[in-house]
Amino acid sequence: MNLINQVFGIGKLLQERKIRGLFRECRTYDRGPVRGHGSRQIRISARTFLNFASNDYLGLSDHPEIRRALHEGIDRYGGGTGSSPLVTGLTPAHQELSERLRDITGKEDILLFSTGFAANQALIKAFISLNAEIYLDRLSHASMQDMAFHTRKIFRFRHNDAGHLEQRLATGNTPGIIGTEGVFSMDGDLAPLKKLQDLREKFRAPLILDDAHGFGVHGFRGHGTAALLCGGFQNTDIYMGTLSKAAGLSGAFIAGDREFLSFMTNTSREYIYSTMAPAFLAHGILKSLDIIEGDEGEDRRLQLAARIRNFHTAMRELLPEYCPQSETAIQPVIIGNTGILIRVAEELRREGIIAGGMRPPTVPEGTARLRITLTAAHQKQDTDYLAEKLSGIISRIRNSGADSSSTGISP
Ligand SMILES: Cc1ncc(COP(=O)(O)O)c(C=O)c1O
Repeated sequence: MNLINQVFGIGKLLQERKIRGLFRECRTYDRGPVRGHGSRQIRISARTFLNFASNDYLGLSDHPEIRRALHEGIDRYGGGTGSSPLVTGLTPAHQELSERLRDITGKEDILLFSTGFAANQALIKAFISLNAEIYLDRLSHASMQDMAFHTRKIFRFRHNDAGHLEQRLATGNTPGIIGTEGVFSMDGDLAPLKKLQDLREKFRAPLILDDAHGFGVHGFRGHGTAALLCGGFQNTDIYMGTLSKAAGLSGAFIAGDREFLSFMTNTSREYIYSTMAPAFLAHGILKSLDIIEGDEGEDRRLQLAARIRNFHTAMRELLPEYCPQSETAIQPVIIGNTGILIRVAEELRREGIIAGGMRPPTVPEGTARLRITLTAAHQKQDTDYLAEKLSGIISRIRNSGADSSSTGISP
């Protein structure tokens, strides 16, 4: 037995997870020779699967022009930046990307991060250092929640319940910020941004929008849920967008006021003490933004909207009680019990389908689910096939037990 295991009893902790059906393990997925399909298909050991577990919503991760831009970026800038942004890591490609994002968002300044996770952590930490009360939607992403747990001044309001938030804001006596997601990552529902914006004004509480799953996908020219739901970026104080999802690459940006971002540049350890992402990536992202904002982006968003309609309509017909309302590319199928979820995911795999199985603590206890993600690269036959197989598998499991409590399948 190794020393860490002996001292800290890791084996026992893992065993407990296995018993509770919560053990996690990484698998390797390969695009293989399947090119030009975005993330529609993936391969595991030479077998090709339909992929319904990717956040590559517009299917850009495999776009030939973006590939070309990445190659061009490598030729121009080489590999890694070798340094953090305040030392020598910031290149003309990053500068150009920041300017482009500034134009898109209309915000005074941009900070680029290697991941959305780091961006959110840095953001929340900055407000904690300002002694702010942190008001977060209960279902906001782990990257926001984790940092907020470093302060006692956190209030998690009921999911999408602006009334609950208002009650609390009315009793707060220190300055606070409101944090939410545009599209919730596990449920696919949208935040009530207009109501939150009203509260922002009423209580002078800055609104922080994590639009990881909205940027590129929603709103005019893909400008995200701020554009779709609350009149534009100017009605948020901080907009965090990821470049790892609809943009098809990797990284994130924070758009906001010059002074606040200068404060972050001076104090955020996630920014100061981390190597700047490669310049070739910034160069590739610029191409991705061209596509997102252009006619091709519009076409891809229409294509995605059609797939969402196909799948949601089919599932509401076949298994309405498992599919909560979601108008977005994230379509949860709530199974309930983790053991059954694993079984459903495995049976889907046998049918040539990969779908993400989400278990607690990623989702609340008793709501284990398949998180189906649709992309513009999917075709109607793909979503029809998924709906048919899914309903067959769930009906079979449901019918094999005496009732829903013995199968563990919700509802
Ligand atoms: C809502 C939300 N915010 C932030 C992140 C983190 O982004 P990234 O994957 O770029 O680290 C995610 C990741 O899935 C997310 O779902």
